[in-house]
Amino acid sequence: MAFVAKPDRIDTFSTIHDWESADYEPTLPVSEKSNPLTRHIDRAPASSIVKMLQACDAQMFQEKSQTQYQRLLSEEMVKTLMEVAERVRLILKDPQDSLVVLSGCGTSGRLAFFMASGFNRELQRLNYAPVCSYVIAGGDRALFSSQEAPEDDPTLGALRLKKVSEGKKRVLFVGVSCGLSAPFVAGQLDFCLRHPDVYTPVLVGFNPAHQARKEPIPGCTLTFHSVVTRMEELAKTQKAFLINPALGPEAISGSSRMKGGSATKILLEVVFSASFSRTPVTFNGILQHLRSYEKALDFTYSHSEEIAALMEAAGRSLQCGRQVCYLGWGSLGLLGLIDASECKPTFGADHEDIRGFVSGGYKELGNNEGDLTLMGPEFSISHDDFLDGVLPRLTDDDAVLLLYSHSDDVDEVAKLARRVREKTSNIHAAYHQTDGDAAAKQDDINKLCSSTVIFTWPQEASKRLQHLREFSTKLLLNAVSTGAHIFKGKVFKNYMIDLQVTNSKLYRRAARLLQKLSGHSESECEEALLKAIYQVDKLSEDIATCSLETHTHTAAKAKKVVPLALVCLLTGCSIKEAESRLEQQPIVREAMETCLKSS
Ligand code: F6P
Repeated sequence: MAFVAKPDRIDTFSTIHDWESADYEPTLPVSEKSNPLTRHIDRAPASSIVKMLQACDAQMFQEKSQTQYQRLLSEEMVKTLMEVAERVRLILKDPQDSLVVLSGCGTSGRLAFFMASGFNRELQRLNYAPVCSYVIAGGDRALFSSQEAPEDDPTLGALRLKKVSEGKKRVLFVGVSCGLSAPFVAGQLDFCLRHPDVYTPVLVGFNPAHQARKEPIPGCTLTFHSVVTRMEELAKTQKAFLINPALGPEAISGSSRMKGGSATKILLEVVFSASFSRTPVTFNGILQHLRSYEKALDFTYSHSEEIAALMEAAGRSLQCGRQVCYLGWGSLGLLGLIDASECKPTFGADHEDIRGFVSGGYKELGNNEGDLTLMGPEFSISHDDFLDGVLPRLTDDDAVLLLYSHSDDVDEVAKLARRVREKTSNIHAAYHQTDGDAAAKQDDINKLCSSTVIFTWPQEASKRLQHLREFSTKLLLNAVSTGAHIFKGKVFKNYMIDLQVTNSKLYRRAARLLQKLSGHSESECEEALLKAIYQVDKLSEDIATCSLETHTHTAAKAKKVVPLALVCLLTGCSIKEAESRLEQQPIVREAMETCLKSS
């Protein structure tokens, strides 16, 4: 059975530990470093992209080497997970006065919602009270759309946490910031540290503590690093907890939705499953559970050919300016929504490029703010919305991907697949079943699809099936959307070259990228970035003295900011000329290469 199959060795194997050496991109935290394994991902065919992603993901489970880095499977990490699981148990004993709050920004906040809802469902099934809540920076609209600005606001973070936990006597707060960087989460952790009688803070992230962000946060005296230092002190007496293994750099530099998101899901599911169980929390139990995800990773990538075919189909649609739609059921559908929503800040995508729809829409979600449909087209997320708004204009150039499992309403899947098939033959499926499941109806669906990835999970996985197939689906979707954007030319080497510059972290990342690719000085690059944001060739005194917040706010309305700035830096041309160059060569990667060659 493929569940335990090991991945193929890839030719870049020798570089697998390079990122750990002290002189590899020493000024960057792990979560922002570029991964040596994916240096040429922008030029690779789909099959090689999948192999590179597999190798990057496998780094999550690598054992601790001789370096400073704590890893996912380190002894200390497992012990911390055990301690946090015991804390969750205390909350379960006193549901009236206690609460668990999961929180984060962007994908970290979406996963906080995803898991809080899933854990509550599981608790109710086990006859416990649902004690989990979530807070996402930017509120529920950030669940499906890109809202990066609130990430910069520590006061807002603290206020939201205060509000959701009003009146509770004991709160376990889990703040997720993959890069140990989001001021929103720093504000929440600080709030917990100032109210230790009620709050116990847990920080989940993927850099060592000394690499936490040191940049001052405007309007307050905190830095993320200063908060982490206080937490480290309290962690000695278990009054705070740090869960921060290094996972290795992301396949696309800084894209924490990938490994960061996956590891967040793994860690919290391992902790919460252990605490919900009626058996004692044990070291081996936690370790085995962590290892089951490693097996699931290998199992997922044992379908690499089919994943590559999906990636190619999605890439073809984006390349010709058409759409990719994920139509999902249950939690797999929700993962589709999450994957799609991150494409805008990462690749400068339009919200129409990759869209997710989930069966049952908001009824299925049970989010804090209820039905958001009236907020605009981005918030139409049900299959009915798809049938009304998207299906009528679907062509063979649009790709549709069905995401479902044996336990979903397969008749409904078949019905929708038939409707889609009437409009396009470019329909695909990713389907999960367990060894021995009868598959008659699913065969009918397969016949309607031009490709299907069938994950047949072995019986040994059945205990944790739900979480594992979600994990597997997340890996598949991340691969499909990343690969598709690579084919569209939105990645240069392994950098997101057309990222949005909509908060301070993204602004700094963009400025750094410009420096790296142009070789110009920090101040020249920042100047070019501002000129691109404000669409001017000369910076006025007014612009130069505006706050970073004003810059990122203005950048939200602009397009192709980083490519524009880079063209200007490399050629010395005006913004207008840079715009026309990019119009002539809309594939950003090609435009960058042309400029680099001629510079
Ligand atoms: O600012 C946008 C973003 O980079 C998202 O892409 C990401 O999901 C989010 O920030 C959260 O980042 P972190 O978990 O590191 O705080």
